[in-house]
Amino acid sequence: MSDGYEQVGAVDQLSESGRLSVILGDEIPALVLKAGDNFYCVEDVCTHDGQPMTDGEFDGCELTCPRHGAKFDVRTGSPTMMPATEPVRTFPVEIRDGSIYVKYDE
Ligand code: FES
Repeated sequence: MSDGYEQVGAVDQLSESGRLSVILGDEIPALVLKAGDNFYCVEDVCTHDGQPMTDGEFDGCELTCPRHGAKFDVRTGSPTMMPATEPVRTFPVEIRDGSIYVKYDE
């Protein structure tokens, strides 16, 4: 699409826990998360030691890395608990007619 958003899936593909694993472009693993009525997308790579956070606990807007317990605010990507100190990458999300669109750069 000309506005930079790419369709990555559909809202009805979200798991019961409100998440969907996607690949942005050819190689960026990412996680779409639903919190209330809002959708977020973060790179699915913990900035502490590269662990996927696919199955990490998601509570409110906070995603926990299952490896060492770092937490990230998915709205901003900011770490909210050690051992991570660097933010995780976030991507804008839009929902259009039941489809999930994410804007990203390779
Ligand atoms: S790899 Fe995520 S907290 Fe260590």
